[in-house]
Amino acid sequence: MTGPGGVVVVGAGECGTGAALALREEGYAEPVTLVGGEPGHPYERPPLSKAVLSGAAGLTPLCTPERLADAGVTHLAGVAATALDVRAHELTLADGRVLGYERLLLATGARARPLPGAHVLRSHADAVALRERLVPGTRVGIVGGGFIGLEVAATAAGLGCAVTVVEAAPRLMGRAVPERLAARAAARHTEAGVDVRCGTAVARLEPGRIVLGDGGAVEVDVVVAGIGSAPETALAEAAGIAVENGIVVDGSFATSAPDVFAAGDCCSFPHPLYDDLRLRLESWRAAQEQGAHAARALLGAAEPYAAVPWFWSDQYDLSLQVAGLPAVTTEEVVRVRPDGAELWFGLDAGRLVAVAGIGVGTAVAKDVRIGEMLIARRATPDPAALADPGVALKPLLRAPSARRVRSGAIA
Ligand code: FAD
Ligand code: NAI
Repeated sequence: MTGPGGVVVVGAGECGTGAALALREEGYAEPVTLVGGEPGHPYERPPLSKAVLSGAAGLTPLCTPERLADAGVTHLAGVAATALDVRAHELTLADGRVLGYERLLLATGARARPLPGAHVLRSHADAVALRERLVPGTRVGIVGGGFIGLEVAATAAGLGCAVTVVEAAPRLMGRAVPERLAARAAARHTEAGVDVRCGTAVARLEPGRIVLGDGGAVEVDVVVAGIGSAPETALAEAAGIAVENGIVVDGSFATSAPDVFAAGDCCSFPHPLYDDLRLRLESWRAAQEQGAHAARALLGAAEPYAAVPWFWSDQYDLSLQVAGLPAVTTEEVVRVRPDGAELWFGLDAGRLVAVAGIGVGTAVAKDVRIGEMLIARRATPDPAALADPGVALKPLLRAPSARRVRSGAIA
């Protein structure tokens, strides 16, 4: 059987659900079908390592069930898409149904890299399984000092567990956070009683212990792996769609197959702010923005996606925010504020390309927001002004921006 035509979205996460709703907000009147491999109503993932894991809150729905229904979005929950025929414009589901489509959006997200014998944390089911194990006094071994590892460490320590983090790299959060701010987070973990071991490889897991590369071992009751995520690309790959660190898309989220788009954690796209460097972002706001942008692109809009990357992480009372791309930085500037919050600015050839901040609660939110606006404007702020906590950042927005020349260099 073939139906229902219109737009089919695969993946009912942040990106896919947002895209389905955005299609209606853009006035699209044909059928919209949202195919979700997970059971139940779409939910927010960030609380899974925070309030859901601590037991302080239940699931946060991505929208109310009524909103999906009122928008006329057909949500097929708990059924995965198993095959895509891009020539016939047909999607096959695990229960044998075949859906025809005019346009299709892949919003399949990412999955946790597994470590046999360890818990992972990507879904609500994962959070429920881990939550049951985090009782006071439990020895929790965490492999990986990235976002999952550290947010779980903070939550588990708060629940009275004895936590050890084993990170293979010389420092924490090396993928996306400047070293200085990661060091500040590391100190906070140590203060909370977490045993943080960087530069420590894991040889293998044995029942009740993590065996380390140096021959030592950590005795544990529970192991959690936060060793990165991999884009969910199997459906696209099998359909012959180009994949390279995610499903390859252009600035409008179009894939190599006609009428098939991809967005969110599963895709890699060229970013115009960074000379079209191909990025795959793994963050909540990007998934949201890309879903809305892809919806417009599905309906024919052509403007390239150019939002400044941004994410946050909460660990204890500290909140960390990063905007832009620290990885392309060639010059660093630090501002230590009187309230103890710290800001870090990354420049390249004089241009601001990244900003990060760490502080209690929302302390750095406003400054990071201004930094983000400066990045979007390709601003070339005076490093001395950035370093001086006495200089307000907002007036820097009034300074002329860097001009882009054809070579990609900044004039
Ligand atoms: P996902 O949320 O992964 O959704 C993809 C959906 O597609 C899934 O439901 C999946 O089951 C489904 N799917 C996959 N394949 C198929 C198929 N073949 N058929 C049908 N359905 C399929 N980001 C931040 O910026 N800040 C945070 O504090 C933060 N905290 C996080 C905490 C946790 C525990 C996790 C896991 C992530 C966190 N993130 C955070 C990252 C953020 O949640 C993700 O970047 C975002 O969820 C990505 O959205 P997405 O829709 O692209 O993918
Ligand atoms: P990550 O990439 O942030 O960190 C993985 C860490 O594991 C790295 O530091 C890496 O060096 C380390 N590692 C890898 N293999 C190892 C090994 N064998 N032994 C020891 N260390 C090892 O990935 P993470 O933390 O697993 O997060 C997964 C996903 O969840 C990402 O997409 C992330 O963006 C998302 N997430 C985001 C949050 C946020 O932005 N606040 C919070 C929680 C999750």
